[in-house]
Amino acid sequence: MDAVVKFTNQSQGRDRIFRATQYACALSIYLLRNNSERKDLVAKLKSLEAVMSSGRKLFRLGNTVNSIDAAKRTMRLSDRVLCLCLTAANINRALYFICDNVLWARSVGLIHNIDKERWSLNASRWYFLSLVMNLTRDVYVILQLMLQKARDKHCRQKMDQHLSENPEVAEVVVPQLDAFLFLLLESLKSDPAVALDTLKNACDLFIPLDRLGIYQSNAGVVGFCGLISSVIGIVTLTQPKLKVKP
Ligand SMILES: *[C@@H]1O[C@H](CO)[C@@H](O)[C@H](O)[C@H]1NC(C)=O
Repeated sequence: MDAVVKFTNQSQGRDRIFRATQYACALSIYLLRNNSERKDLVAKLKSLEAVMSSGRKLFRLGNTVNSIDAAKRTMRLSDRVLCLCLTAANINRALYFICDNVLWARSVGLIHNIDKERWSLNASRWYFLSLVMNLTRDVYVILQLMLQKARDKHCRQKMDQHLSENPEVAEVVVPQLDAFLFLLLESLKSDPAVALDTLKNACDLFIPLDRLGIYQSNAGVVGFCGLISSVIGIVTLTQPKLKVKP
């Protein structure tokens, strides 16, 4: 099992590059949809997108084990909220990968008698829940940072100065809102890892929202958001200090 975990960790970089390519294709296909001269290119992009998507499914075979392993680790976190959010996120992620693996087995003909559409919807459902739990974690961490900043003397002085220097802002907008935004920005600036993770999860959210019909955007939005989140994923892989912990 350790070997599976190690291997899937190693193949993460490849998965992210495949994912970025997949969504870049999706976005380009959307942008070129009305261009009749580029029909050949669109057909090529479509097949590249399909290759990336099925290639990623193969690399993801070990991810169920990987997610269960991660859940075991996050279960031991001493912070109750973090423990709950991250463990739930990892369990939902494991369930998502089970559905994903079943779909892979069907696509290569290992199993036949399953309803593809139902399993695919279930996969999106677990993925969505995992993202919601991850976002809850991000909001919790940001709120804690904001509370810390509000108590911090140095930061309070800076805030008072900011509010007195921009009286018109404070008058037009509710002063509390201005103070809230100031604390929010200061918190995000002080912890870019959380800021990036929030952006990444928020972008990812558009994919299952669209798939599940909760919020229907279009292929362009899904492609764009998927590309942004994949690029953030690559950045955090190459710059480990930008990855949220735990
Ligand atoms: C939720 O966060 C964990 C830890 O950062 C990450 O491993 C996982 O991929 C995230 N889940 C989703 C669905 O992105």
